[in-house]
Amino acid sequence: MNIRQATVEDLMSMQNCNLLNLPENYQMKYYLYHALSWPQLSYVAEDHKGRIVGYVLAKMEEEPTDVPHGHITSLSVLRTYRRLGLAEKLMTQSQKMMVEAFGAHYVSLHVRKTNRAALSLYKDTLKFNVEGIEKKYYADGEDAYAMRKNLIDTKKSVPRGVVEEINPAVAAH
Ligand SMILES: CC(C)(COP(=O)(O)OP(=O)(O)OC[C@H]1O[C@@H](n2cnc3c(N)ncnc32)[C@H](O)[C@@H]1OP(=O)(O)O)[C@@H](O)C(=O)NCCC(=O)NCCS
Repeated sequence: MNIRQATVEDLMSMQNCNLLNLPENYQMKYYLYHALSWPQLSYVAEDHKGRIVGYVLAKMEEEPTDVPHGHITSLSVLRTYRRLGLAEKLMTQSQKMMVEAFGAHYVSLHVRKTNRAALSLYKDTLKFNVEGIEKKYYADGEDAYAMRKNLIDTKKSVPRGVVEEINPAVAAH
């Protein structure tokens, strides 16, 4: 099983995988927008014959008000290829590139409250935290957990403006 960056040629297979696995589906132009805007963030898992058996579709959030952060739009793995660690690998690779290519501080996502497999993957394996509940987030009325995971070590990063805050009288010595 091979994990590699998704290309525009993979988008039909990814959409097909999505249709088989999830009630939420997206138009092809939305896949294309991801692949063209943030090609570093979406990945596919392929079998030895090059068939796409799983994918992660991810992006950078675009509102300018917050620190840079990534968002997982969609993740799924075909039924017969589950519990092999593919989703974990796809997610880890995307998160790594959110930091390396775009300086993401954190990654966010939504998940159905009843989706036990995904919740366990995000909470237990990948160490996401629940940020809140979004009532009736899904078209069928189900609530979502809004989840988030820090991608930078905030204790190690130097606070902005620290140089300006040094007392010039002290700094001159
Ligand atoms: C959720 C999903 C993507 C997980 O894919 P996967 O490749 O099987 O996940 P992994 O093999 O990487 O699992 C890693 C860990 O997640 C947890 N996990 C995954 N599936 C689980 C399940 N069915 N029940 C409980 N825990 C589960 C386990 O802790 C697992 O580690 P382990 O196998 O060592 O116990 C897959 O089940 C899927 O495609 N579901 C339908 C689509 C979906 O719900 N997508 C997420 C939308 S937010």
